[in-house]
Amino acid sequence: MNVYDSQRMADVLKPLGFADTDSPDGAELILINTCHIREKAAEKLFSELGRYRQIKEGRASAGARTLIAVAGCVAQAEGEEILRRAPFVDIVVGPQTYHRLPEMVSRLGVERTAQIDLDFAPEAKFDQLPVNEARGSTAFLSIQEGCDKFCTFCVVPYTRGAEYSRPLADVVAEARGLAMGGVREITLLGQNVNAYHGDAGGRSAHFAELIRRVAEIDGIERIRYTTSHPIDMDDDLIAAHGDVPQLMPFLHLPVQSGSDSMLQRMNRHHKIDLYRAIVEKLLRARPDLKLSTDFIVGFPGETDEEFQATLSFANEMGFVQAYSFKYSARPGTPAAILPGQLSEAVKSERLAALQQILEANQLAFNEACVDRVLPILFDRPGRKPGQMIGRSPYMQPVHAMVPDHAFGSILDVRIVSARPISLGGELSAPIANADRSVIQRGASA
Ligand code: 5AD
Ligand code: SF4
Repeated sequence: MNVYDSQRMADVLKPLGFADTDSPDGAELILINTCHIREKAAEKLFSELGRYRQIKEGRASAGARTLIAVAGCVAQAEGEEILRRAPFVDIVVGPQTYHRLPEMVSRLGVERTAQIDLDFAPEAKFDQLPVNEARGSTAFLSIQEGCDKFCTFCVVPYTRGAEYSRPLADVVAEARGLAMGGVREITLLGQNVNAYHGDAGGRSAHFAELIRRVAEIDGIERIRYTTSHPIDMDDDLIAAHGDVPQLMPFLHLPVQSGSDSMLQRMNRHHKIDLYRAIVEKLLRARPDLKLSTDFIVGFPGETDEEFQATLSFANEMGFVQAYSFKYSARPGTPAAILPGQLSEAVKSERLAALQQILEANQLAFNEACVDRVLPILFDRPGRKPGQMIGRSPYMQPVHAMVPDHAFGSILDVRIVSARPISLGGELSAPIANADRSVIQRGASA
């Protein structure tokens, strides 16, 4: 989501003559896009701002102006406080108003007083953003924002606001434009992407319908989506996993904990059995599907027993990838004031124990891929000359020696080595006929 937002902010600023640069040292505008979801985001921002202040002052003494802008969820949450603690900041803009960045930058040319815009109006933002231009063979497409679920640990409902879905026709038009620009893989984005219910000419379209519409677009060979919630995995969506071949056999489905009592205190609206039942249905629809998830350890009051339930659930499900976090209290969320906040030492110990299981599962899956031929979408140069990095259907980075003209292609690759988070491969077919449409089903895992 943040990568998508950063790209869109660069897009809105292009007409003013701004272009990306590798280093902040000579930049006329330094834009910091922030995420508030975990850790000490505000403190990190202020220390980063200290560095940028030095650049700004250094450039000012040479007669050059530098604008500093803070965007994203921390901007939304901290608002005026940013200007109070860092008066050299010029712009504070929330996640729903960055389409107004050009106006704010232009006004600074005249008024020279800091600009702040923290409205909550995603409709207006999407209507006013410029075309989402293709930047390669893969692209993000934001279809939904905000969240109404209010998990007790999470700031998203407060910083991103209520759930909003873009109209179906707008999303399909954007996907078509990306395909025409050469995009072959689209990742549909939203804080609650599978809760999508966009307007479709007076009725509400559901997420599975949107996936089917995107799959009809010529050139779109891979579809992914993130992040989803178990309670929105309806039967229609599960069926789409079985009959839309472009939908990749890999799903990120956060569970957060393996214990029902913990899930209840987290206000997750689902129990472990529901998660299990969804996974069973998904596997019936698409037997080669693999799962990734998120876990939080050390939520207030988490007992040894509840934590053990998380460990055994991680073992049982064999997630092929997972993100795991120590609970960190987010001010303003209900869990932040719950009794039984755990010590850092306990959280660290639990995180290490969980990660040991998760890493072993990931490595086991990576090793099981050796000798298989997987279709890899190559979209990044590798570190060695002649090497490229691509993604397997399961999101594993795959390193292989691939001719330059194959950049952006989906090629059949024989996996020859496995590491904890990546694979090594060799082209398994002559390049001339390897760049065909690789929409294949049933590569069993
Ligand atoms: N502490 C730790 N992890 C959190 N997440 C969200 N809020 C918190 C928090 N307060 C994690 C959840 C979520 C992921 C995006 O970030 O696991 O799924
Ligand atoms: Fe946060 Fe996701 Fe829960 Fe919404 S569903 S409150 S975004 S963790």
